[in-house]
Amino acid sequence: MVLYRLIQSEAGGVCLLIFCGSQQARRKPQAGLQPRRNGVIGMTQKLKLGLVFGGASSEYEVSLLSVSSVLANIDRTRYDIYRIGITKDGRMFYYTGEDSCIADDTWQDGRCVPCVLSPSREHHGFVILKERPEVVRLDCVFPVLHGKNGEDGTIQGLLTMAGIPFVGCGTLASAACMDKATTHTLLDKAGVLGAKWRAVTMHAYQKNQAAFLDEVEHALGFPCFVKPANAGSSVGITKAADRDMLASAMELAFRHDAKVVVEEMLYGKEIECAVLGNEEPVASCLGEIAPSNDFYDYNAKYIDGKTVTYVPARITEKESDEIRRIAVQAYQIMGCRGFARVDFFFSENGEIYLNEINTIPGFTSISMYPQLFVASGVPYSSLIDRLIEYAMAC
Ligand SMILES: Nc1ncnc2c1ncn2[C@@H]1O[C@H](COP(=O)(O)OP(=O)(O)O)[C@@H](O)[C@H]1O
Ligand SMILES: [Mg+2]
Repeated sequence: MVLYRLIQSEAGGVCLLIFCGSQQARRKPQAGLQPRRNGVIGMTQKLKLGLVFGGASSEYEVSLLSVSSVLANIDRTRYDIYRIGITKDGRMFYYTGEDSCIADDTWQDGRCVPCVLSPSREHHGFVILKERPEVVRLDCVFPVLHGKNGEDGTIQGLLTMAGIPFVGCGTLASAACMDKATTHTLLDKAGVLGAKWRAVTMHAYQKNQAAFLDEVEHALGFPCFVKPANAGSSVGITKAADRDMLASAMELAFRHDAKVVVEEMLYGKEIECAVLGNEEPVASCLGEIAPSNDFYDYNAKYIDGKTVTYVPARITEKESDEIRRIAVQAYQIMGCRGFARVDFFFSENGEIYLNEINTIPGFTSISMYPQLFVASGVPYSSLIDRLIEYAMAC
């Protein structure tokens, strides 16, 4: 709650207005849609929207909160909503119970029927698995999923096969942004500054552990950050102060992924930028995180409520413009579309380091991504509409 109040009090009337009519024209006609006068898609009838939540991911709980906010704020006059829940162990259900049971994770005790999102274009939706299976056609899907099996290109691949428009990045950008080693490799190549880093697979590490620890010690030094290449919400991340801690941090990170990335420690402000759009993306004003812990770990993100957030970030307009420029550049290099939150470190002597790109950022009404656009003049429910318009435009 502290987080919410701070955002509200810092935000008043100070952010840049970032929407400038740069929505792209839609490429192919979609049932129930027609272009509005300004080129943005307008709807003639309700859109059948699938909201997918939960997920076989360490960020399952975060997804429940994000989708609850979406459900509480989405314009029901524009959409017929179909809620598809995925359990932590990967089972899929069509959920017809109360919205409130999603946030407290009791939805599985309620009105649930097994279902599958169908890869078949004939179905163009999901199949309810009852005695006589029922096909439900969808016009669009919003995967409100975070982390593995949601933000990593998997469900995006399924929806692409099915031919169903969906909110957010496609398969390649999702997978590339999810994998921190791949993000580093691509952005290094494009000249976008990031932390010095090393990566190792579990197989290579087990073959010669000492060689990797030596390499980290000499190339990156201590403290360093040890991360599963594919995870999120700071799960499995350790700030390692010495070689012993590094060795145990490696073990922890390998519990979450078969590849681990180690980075030099960066100092400075943590800055976040929300980016929205397809071919001509726009960047929001910036947010700044002052974590309550030594770093922005899971506890500081979701539990203790003591992390302080500043919107806009406490940096000059010139510095902010440069970070926003790099955010859009990185978004385009990685082939993002729809939306993403691009996170940075801004050092005391003005260096801008890109940390990571989140292709389905936290999406509760008090999460940084929506707050940055709210502060930039776009209300939360309009943001959902925009995301769906961008999905339908692909
Ligand atoms: N190289 C680094 N230097 C300093 N702090 C870091 C570094 N990498 C990560 N952190 C800290 O750890 C947090 C989580 O790391 P991040 O790479 O963003 O992982 P996640 O994808 O889980 O959010 C960051 O928000 C920051 O507080
Ligand atoms: Mg992060």
